[in-house]
Amino acid sequence: MLDEIFENFVKNTIFKNKKAVQASYTPEIILHREKEINQIASVLAPSLRLEKPSNLFLYGVTGTGKTLSIRYVTNQLLEKAKENNVNLKVIYINCKLKKVADTEYRILAELLEYLGRKVPATGLPTDSLYKMFTEIINEKEMMLILILDEIDQAVDKIGDSLLYNLTRLDSSLTNSQISVVGITNRLTFVDALDPRIRSSLSEEEILFHPYNALQLQDILRVRAKEAFKDSIIDEGVLEKCSAYAAQEHGDARRALDLLRVAGELVERDSKKKVTLDYVDIAESKIEKDRVLDIVKSQPKQFQLTFLSIVENSKKNNGQSFHTGDVFERYSYLCTASKVKEITQRRISDIIGEFDMLGLITTKVISRGRGGKTREIKLAINPNLLEKVENILKENLNL
Ligand SMILES: Nc1ncnc2c1ncn2[C@@H]1O[C@H](COP(=O)(O)OP(=O)(O)OP(=O)(O)O)[C@@H](O)[C@H]1O
Ligand SMILES: [Mg+2]
Repeated sequence: MLDEIFENFVKNTIFKNKKAVQASYTPEIILHREKEINQIASVLAPSLRLEKPSNLFLYGVTGTGKTLSIRYVTNQLLEKAKENNVNLKVIYINCKLKKVADTEYRILAELLEYLGRKVPATGLPTDSLYKMFTEIINEKEMMLILILDEIDQAVDKIGDSLLYNLTRLDSSLTNSQISVVGITNRLTFVDALDPRIRSSLSEEEILFHPYNALQLQDILRVRAKEAFKDSIIDEGVLEKCSAYAAQEHGDARRALDLLRVAGELVERDSKKKVTLDYVDIAESKIEKDRVLDIVKSQPKQFQLTFLSIVENSKKNNGQSFHTGDVFERYSYLCTASKVKEITQRRISDIIGEFDMLGLITTKVISRGRGGKTREIKLAINPNLLEKVENILKENLNL
């Protein structure tokens, strides 16, 4: 019985190199980012003369090629530095990785490890780690580019002291220089930073615009050619994946996911071609996984707020409602689940985050005498509602 299932996979019919449609794959060609790549290169180029590049900030919504571009430029830069005997080091840290960026101590320990110094996992005062750090890079003339990807995640967890300290290390560096590249997909992140940190961190800023549907098609075409055997993908499939991804916010990762998942589903059904229907099936599978993932992983206050939104939406038959309604029901749910209530102001912020995640849509409307309120509408697929509600209730012991 199982033999047939396994046999189908062994005989893998449609993929040539599936890795090429996985998000972690580094493509050889980067399309439609020439301008951004050149800008990054110009900012970082002085490092080749051991002159300190400006600190740089890259921002733009998810899947716009920020990580890919900085990796590409710094790899080339390192090669050039090697050719010219320049002591350049690039350290890349993804602050989203839990183990690494939970505390200032951990990040510093990670940095030190890159530089060849092991420190105990806890225990030393943070100051002494900074001291060690400057000592090591001062040992001989060196240019250090420190990339902090998804930097908002680190600041959420540990505050902005790290950034403050890092951008002020310069004064204690005698032999060497350090430049910081911060990357985020949270567009309001920079504005929310302490102005002193902001001005030193974003001496240069580069915005990554979302891709449009045509650009996504170009990107997909190259990756699809690498990933699938010839003539497997039906006409219109790449266009449809691109259109879906462009509709949301021009996210290349999303477009690739759609194509890959469509391919996987075709394979599972032992079909020979990726047809348009499979893009739709992939779309709803991804949407479902994404929504359920978010809902499961949110902190309690977020879950209470979201449950209130779901219940309000049900009560209004899918029509919109206001922040006040959300707060009222939230308040009730807090009592019911014995959780301490937070202010309406904070709930408002949380609602804003749901909007950014695409779980709801909101519209600010004025209501006489300068008063303002927000109209909220749930934006997830109606047939997920029940499942979402059950997960939330279970998590909240309701
Ligand atoms: N121009 C491009 N050409 C080919 N592939 C691309 C391009 N832009 C993005 N991709 C692919 O899309 C995926 C997402 O890109 P990347 O990780 O660079 O996005 P990001 O802007 O860093 O997103 P996030 O903010 O979520 O970290 C990766 O798999 C990457 O290879
Ligand atoms: Mg990234």
